[in-house]
Amino acid sequence: MLYLIGLGLSYTSDITVRGLEAIKKCDRVYLEHYTSILMAASLEELEAFYGKPVSLADREMVESGCEEILRGADKQNVAFLVVGDPFGATTHTDLVLRAKKQKMPVEVIHNASVMNAVGSCGLQLYNFGQTVSMVFFTDSWRPDSWYDKIWENRKIGLHTLVLLDIKVKEQSIENMARGRLIYEPPRYMSIAQCCEQLLEIEESRGTKAYTPDTPAVAISRLGSADQTFKSGTIEELSQYDSGEPLHSLVILGRQCHELEIVYLLEFADDKTKFQSSVTQDQEYFKPAPWVPPTEDAE
Ligand SMILES: C[S@@+](CC[C@H](N)C(=O)[O-])C[C@H]1O[C@@H](n2cnc3c(N)ncnc32)[C@H](O)[C@@H]1O
Repeated sequence: MLYLIGLGLSYTSDITVRGLEAIKKCDRVYLEHYTSILMAASLEELEAFYGKPVSLADREMVESGCEEILRGADKQNVAFLVVGDPFGATTHTDLVLRAKKQKMPVEVIHNASVMNAVGSCGLQLYNFGQTVSMVFFTDSWRPDSWYDKIWENRKIGLHTLVLLDIKVKEQSIENMARGRLIYEPPRYMSIAQCCEQLLEIEESRGTKAYTPDTPAVAISRLGSADQTFKSGTIEELSQYDSGEPLHSLVILGRQCHELEIVYLLEFADDKTKFQSSVTQDQEYFKPAPWVPPTEDAE
């Protein structure tokens, strides 16, 4: 059996009872180690908690074949652990499809994900549109396809969850070119960098999917002992020190329920300014008034 097991967001003990019982039955245990990190636990702590060794599975191991992970999963039990939920944000459907193709039984054990825990900032999950990912810009690579998705969400008044890039096992271009297996130190995008990149692309596109004054909320270390939220405009959050990773950002949509605003005001340094940025944003994105068709148009 191949078990895909969600670990939840932060602590070793966030795993479900069913997830832990499955690990106990497993001959090999892999921890997916490139899309997220378990903030309050080290590998050694996980191994001690499960009572067995855990191998780190990097992007290369998971995406180029997954043979090592699937080896023998038709006769043995193998666990593939994913921080959050196995299907939250990054889906591991490719691994499941490969296992099924090889006639291996698969069981998924779910857990909390950033995709649902984000609701603890006070915004209602029903009011979210498409989620987007913000990658680290380089001198020659500044992808902005996420801009159109934010624009689409904002047109129909929905909030946008922005997930921030993390790089846990990357080679420099030089080391890659020379075939040297030397990895760069891990990097996690901050809220400030994400907002700077948002502002840069808005300036170059100029179609006002959002503006520097658009209200947003920064969400840091969700589910850990020191999770924090900060409400502010995108401009204000481009100056915000978000501290240790992990971070996500939500850009507000026009369809904001009064209770959502009341909740967010608690996280604003200047409540009056935040309230006025919400009002102005709602006004700007207000749908055009409905005009009944005239006889001529029929
Ligand atoms: C690619 S997603 C993987 C999501 C994970 N599988 C889950 O279900 O939660 C990873 C990104 O989600 C966001 N994220 C994940 N956990 C978070 C947390 N606890 N607090 C804030 N953001 C988080 C970060 O932007 C991070 O880079």
